Amino acid sequence: MALERTLSIIKPDAVQKNVIGRILMRFEASGLKIVAARMTRLSRAEAEGFYAVHRGRPFYRDLVEFMTSGPVLVQVLEGEGAIAKNRELMGATDPKQAAKDTIRAEFATTIDANAVHGSDSADTARTEIDFFFKPGEIFTR
Ligand code: CMP
Repeated sequence: MALERTLSIIKPDAVQKNVIGRILMRFEASGLKIVAARMTRLSRAEAEGFYAVHRGRPFYRDLVEFMTSGPVLVQVLEGEGAIAKNRELMGATDPKQAAKDTIRAEFATTIDANAVHGSDSADTARTEIDFFFKPGEIFTR
């Protein structure tokens, strides 16, 4: 398996629930390293830009609304097969479909307030990491 990086966001609902640490612990326990992290509140323009691929979808407006509703923690995770591993840890997008013991099964409430975001492919991961971090802000150990 290849050493990969993926972008992860702890969304406003999970930050509000005070479960940042419990989510980060899952990443580390699975062998992923947090090589960059920042707390921020997305502007409307940032949320629209980040989710531009979903523009025109019926849920786009609510998604942007939700993602700008409070602070988020954005991080880069690094490890063998990091993209798939993070998606496995997160569980299905809709928490009702998420497998037991996944982050979304435990912490998410609705498909919008679904606790975390994770890149879905190597191409997306590169674009999403570049969206939030400069190369000098990522620290491989
Ligand atoms: P995320 O992984 O952040 O990527 C896009 C987000 O849109 C997704 O998680 C959900 O929170 C939200 N969303 C709302 N409705 C849908 C839907 N029907 N399909 C996919 N994503 C949706």
